[in-house]
Amino acid sequence: MQERVEIELPFLPLVNFQRLLSPARKQELPVVQKGLSELGFLLLQNCIDPTLVKEAYEQMQLFFELPMNTKMIFKMDDRYRGYDPGEQTLQMQNLTSAEAAQLKRDKKEGYRIWDPAQEAVSKDVPWWRLLGHPNKFPSKELLPDFIPIMLAYREAGANAICEIMNAIDDCPDISPGNLKDYNDPGFMPCRPILYSEDGGSSNAHQDWGNGTLIDTNVPGLQTVLVSEEAEVWYQVPVMEGCSVFQFGEMAAKITGLKANRHRVRMPKKSRGSKLSLVTFGYGHRDKKIGNEYCAQKILDRFDQSYGFGRFGR
Ligand SMILES: [Fe+2]
Repeated sequence: MQERVEIELPFLPLVNFQRLLSPARKQELPVVQKGLSELGFLLLQNCIDPTLVKEAYEQMQLFFELPMNTKMIFKMDDRYRGYDPGEQTLQMQNLTSAEAAQLKRDKKEGYRIWDPAQEAVSKDVPWWRLLGHPNKFPSKELLPDFIPIMLAYREAGANAICEIMNAIDDCPDISPGNLKDYNDPGFMPCRPILYSEDGGSSNAHQDWGNGTLIDTNVPGLQTVLVSEEAEVWYQVPVMEGCSVFQFGEMAAKITGLKANRHRVRMPKKSRGSKLSLVTFGYGHRDKKIGNEYCAQKILDRFDQSYGFGRFGR
C-alpha cells in the first residue's frame, strides 16, 4: 500500500481538559467523540499543571544526561521498573515475521516509574512481577528532587487518564458506558522516553492498555489514517500546554472503536533530542476484558517485547 506523510491533520481534536471537569463539560464531548472515532487521539489543553510538567522534564533531562554506567545502576529487570537502555524490539502488529525482521530496532531510551504503594488483588495474576517492589530511583544525593516530582507527575497523569475515561463514557455514541470501571490510577506507570536527535525512532504500533497520556517537547509523533488507496501518516502537533491522549487496545476492545496506531520519526532538522513523558492506563488490576485479566495481558506483552518471563511465574 502506498505510504505518504502529511503535515496537517484533517482537523485538530482540541479538548479543553479543565472544561471537561466543569459544569460546561457537555460542550467538550462532541470533540471527544469526533477525535476518538475519526483520529483515535485527543489534544488536551490545560491537562497537567504546567509547572509540574516543566519540573518533570527537568528531572528526566538530568537523569538521561547521567553517564551510561550510572544510569545502568538503575536498569529495569523482570520487575519492570527503572532505566530502560533501549534494548527492546516492539511486537509488530499486522506484519509477517520477515517484514518485522527487516524493521530497525526502536532508537530510544526510557525509565519506568510505578506507584510504589500498590498491592496485588486477584489471586490469578502473578503480581509479584508487577507490584510490591521498590522503584529503582536515583539517590537524593544524585538527584535530590527526582522522587517527589516524578511520583507527583505519574499520579497527575493517572488521574487525568481516569477523567478522560469518564468523559468517553459520557459520549454514548462511542462508549457502552463501562470504561470507567477499568479506571485504576495505581495501575498506571509513567514511562519517560528520550529519542535521540540523531535518528531517534519508534516503530508503528498501538498501545496495549486503555489509553496513554503524553507530554512532549519536540515534534516527531505521527498517527496514521488508512484508506483503500493509501496509508497516510500525519504529524501530531506539539502545542504549548497541550497533552496528547491516545486510545489503546483494551479500550478499543471494550468500545469497538479502533486503537490509535502511531510511530515516532524525528524531524530531519530537529534541534535537540525529544523527551516524552508518557503515562499508560493499563486497565484495572482486578478486572478482565473477555476472559483475560488486564494485568495478564500487560505481563504477556512485556514478555514478548523484552524477553522477560524467563524467571518463571
Ligand atoms: Fe506508543
